[in-house]
Amino acid sequence: MSITAIKGMNDVLPGQVETWQFLERRAREVFGAFGFSEIRTPIVEKTELFCRSIGETTDIVEKEMYTFNDKSDNSLTLRPEGTAPVMRSFIQNRLNTLDPVSKLYYMGPMFRYERPQKGRYRQFHQIGAEVIGVEDPKIDAQVLAMLHHYFQDIGISSVALQINSLGCPACRPTYRQALIDYLEARLVSLCNECQRRYTTNPLRVLDCKASGCKEATLDAPSVLEHLCGECDEHFAQVQSLLDELAVPFSVNERMVRGLDYYVRTTFELVTDQLGSQNAVAAGGRYDGLVESLGGPSLPGIGFAIGLERLVLMKDDAQAQTARPDLFLAALGEEAAQKAFVLMTELQRNGFRAEMDYQGKSLKAQMRRANKLKSRFTVIMGESELQSGRAELKDMDQSTQDQIALDSLVEELSARR
Ligand code: HAM
Repeated sequence: MSITAIKGMNDVLPGQVETWQFLERRAREVFGAFGFSEIRTPIVEKTELFCRSIGETTDIVEKEMYTFNDKSDNSLTLRPEGTAPVMRSFIQNRLNTLDPVSKLYYMGPMFRYERPQKGRYRQFHQIGAEVIGVEDPKIDAQVLAMLHHYFQDIGISSVALQINSLGCPACRPTYRQALIDYLEARLVSLCNECQRRYTTNPLRVLDCKASGCKEATLDAPSVLEHLCGECDEHFAQVQSLLDELAVPFSVNERMVRGLDYYVRTTFELVTDQLGSQNAVAAGGRYDGLVESLGGPSLPGIGFAIGLERLVLMKDDAQAQTARPDLFLAALGEEAAQKAFVLMTELQRNGFRAEMDYQGKSLKAQMRRANKLKSRFTVIMGESELQSGRAELKDMDQSTQDQIALDSLVEELSARR
């Protein structure tokens, strides 16, 4: 029996990988222009890092982590997200001593043991960005402007930005209690899961998809009505800056996030193109996180984009393997030897050159050249070997020119 990939973990094949490369390349360029530098952290971290940052009562920590003991009995976890590892590295490497503002981005695989479906996988990829060191609402607006710009840059317009504020440690407890009181009176209508968690993580009830929970929370108190003066002012400024930067958004006061580290501004980029997995990107502020992990008291904000979801939304215009510049068709062993040397020479000069390795007929070789959509072809037989000249055929224009075989690099350069 042949071995298959693990459920919910996918290969990215040639033909698809070009879209991934495009999305990654544009992220590097756009984020670079906004002053962000790349950071790479290990895929495995100590389990404690995620429990302490994401929160013990979240779905991720309660049931979705790939956790195992190594041979020395240390509990390790495949990272379910990128923010906590970046904060761990930021603290460990004292990045705040280099500059009071750290702007970092990352891309790579994350792991969550979720039920796989379209847009939801067990190994998935995020492109994320984090800013550490600034409390000013300008940075909230800038991060959102960058996210908005990236989506415009890659040609995806069918997304909507929703924002909310979750308050801070000063005002959130009052809201939390108001919500618990409200839910207590409606306990019978809640699903089993929400009956269990309405005291441990009451905000999650607002996010529950069960119809009973949805109905029961229709008139639930709004977090925005419970913000303290400072959080209220911060949120108002974020909105007015977004208006000034012409970043369209709407306020969704029911938006809660599945990770506990958020305070104040939170946001999601949503689409109706992906069924129930409607968030293509999400993030928010996490002002107490660095300190709670043993670092300096510094605010932070960031987001992560789900790369698989982006790929699903991107029409596959890019999804084509790059075509060869030249296909060298050879007749006979001697010509094949010469073609092989010429092909390698071309490749060393940056051209995509291809040939046959299986002694196929000329007809079969030309069929393959067509299938690969090679831009040029050259046929090399005995007479071409003797004269050192051959016809370079332009497959797009249906024209051909006599050229010297030894000047293929120059000839192709001239036609680039
Ligand atoms: P998150 O909302 O858990 O936030 O994930 C961010 C994005 O990753 C989601 O909006 C979605 O596009 C994608 N994603 C999440 N889970 C899956 C999955 N199982 N399969 C496919 N895509 C998925 C975070 O991870 C935070 N660290 C974001 C952040 C950065 N907050 C501040 N800085």
